[in-house]
Amino acid sequence: LDSKSTDVVWHSHSVSRKDRSEQKSQKPCLLWFTGLSGAGKSTVANSLDCALFKLGMHTFLLDGDNVRHGLNKDLGFSDTDRVENIRRIGEASKLFSDAGLIVLSAFISPFKSDRQMVRSLFPADEFIEVFVSTPLNICEKRDPKGLYKKARAGTIKHFTGIDSVYEAPENPEITFDTSRQSVDECVEQLIELLKSRNII
Ligand code: PPS
Ligand code: ADP
Repeated sequence: LDSKSTDVVWHSHSVSRKDRSEQKSQKPCLLWFTGLSGAGKSTVANSLDCALFKLGMHTFLLDGDNVRHGLNKDLGFSDTDRVENIRRIGEASKLFSDAGLIVLSAFISPFKSDRQMVRSLFPADEFIEVFVSTPLNICEKRDPKGLYKKARAGTIKHFTGIDSVYEAPENPEITFDTSRQSVDECVEQLIELLKSRNII
């Protein structure tokens, strides 16, 4: 009989999240970037990561490159797999934030309910949903990986924005359209937001 996690006892740790955060002079938080493929999530998250690093902050960036090739390499792009993808990333983000880090996670995360689930893992002031709202026609024109072309031709099925749904956030903490704002502008606004929330 597989008892799964029912026999697991939760250990209480002696070094708290608060202890770690005070030692680092920063508040842990999760910046959750969501938007279509090609919207600019990775580019902006990576640039913010560099800026925070230069300010001496302790950060960690999670995106497709280090997640879909490793932790989640068993998952594809069916609705069920996307739900599991985001569930695991949410839990991993929580662990990194428990370690006292400012976490930047950049995933399409097309479903509202999954983003809500991740949000619910964090105190209200430590979760920042960043909606990279760049319209589909611009993302498709950029097509940095040639995937939209393949999706239109039908060689990739269930591609977000083409034949798989993207549910836009209703109340994101901040929204960017990278067809109107430069990477530096987006990063500057995010830094201001982090300062106003006393995270940095
Ligand atoms: S999700 O929906 O949050 O689980 O997706 P994510 O983990 O962010 O992975 C998205 C990247 O995978 C590539 N790709 C696809 N995207 C959407 N739909 C389909 N069917 C698909 N197949 C492969 C694509 O390059 C996405 O990369 P980004 O970085 O968003 O451009
Ligand atoms: P995503 O992670 O959302 O799939 P990427 O960051 O991988 O998006 O790709 C966005 C593409 O758009 C990159 O080729 C990037 O150089 C380009 N781009 C042009 N202008 C911007 C901007 N202002 N912000 C972000 N990306 C931009």
